[in-house]
Amino acid sequence: MKGIILAGGLGTRLAPLTKITNKHLLPIYDKPMIFYPIRTLVDAGVRDLLIVTGGNNAGDFLRLLGNGSAFDLPHINYTYQEGEGGIADALRLAEHFAEGQKIVVMLGDNVIEKDIRAGVAAFRKQKRGARVYLKEVANPRAYGVAELRGKHIVSIVEKPAHPKSNLAVIGIYMYDSAVFDVIRTLRPSGRGELEITDVNNAYIKRRQLSYDVLDGWWADAGASHEKLLETSLLVAQRDGMKFSVSRGKN
Ligand code: G1P
Repeated sequence: MKGIILAGGLGTRLAPLTKITNKHLLPIYDKPMIFYPIRTLVDAGVRDLLIVTGGNNAGDFLRLLGNGSAFDLPHINYTYQEGEGGIADALRLAEHFAEGQKIVVMLGDNVIEKDIRAGVAAFRKQKRGARVYLKEVANPRAYGVAELRGKHIVSIVEKPAHPKSNLAVIGIYMYDSAVFDVIRTLRPSGRGELEITDVNNAYIKRRQLSYDVLDGWWADAGASHEKLLETSLLVAQRDGMKFSVSRGKN
């Protein structure tokens, strides 16, 4: 299985921090944000990686990551997304890299407490289709939200005004090679993007979308300044840093 990390976009929700750098290079506790999704995929045994970047600071990824020695990788692949076409548009660029294999896609600003080994192992055994991760959230209106009937996802709605559940579809997606044909059928959404939610709904129609519920916390670090800070604190706490906020004591 091959891995794809989506790290493009202009990161406007994090302005002005993103005026001079790419969102995925901002710090989360003691590392650049993109280190976390790379670590998640490598720990799940996915070692052939493509970074899809974009925007004004694409060259910095090469300087930061090189060929992946920080992750004991012999090589990393890179490609560049022109413009702002959305997650599914960025994924389109991975067709050549995928070479007909199954893929696991992770958004470069998603950080998780634990790991995705079980889901990746299950998808290796899955004959065809797609697999997503769900996580209970307090504010489902901010995400793609799954509606379940029995054990099956029957629809996913992107940022619903009236969510049918509190289960967000997080930014980790697994697909068979049919995904690129699915993307070719998509039309831009109201926000002018090719939506990953439309890709997942196409797999629901084919009755080929499975899921796991993520164990441990999930953070959408790039969603807001508050989420960025919260993710740093979650990671620091997980990694055993002892801290408390005190005034003026150095
Ligand atoms: C995207 C997806 C959404 C998903 C979220 C997870 O939202 O469109 O379905 O729940 O990532 O991070 P965006 O970050 O583009 O608002």
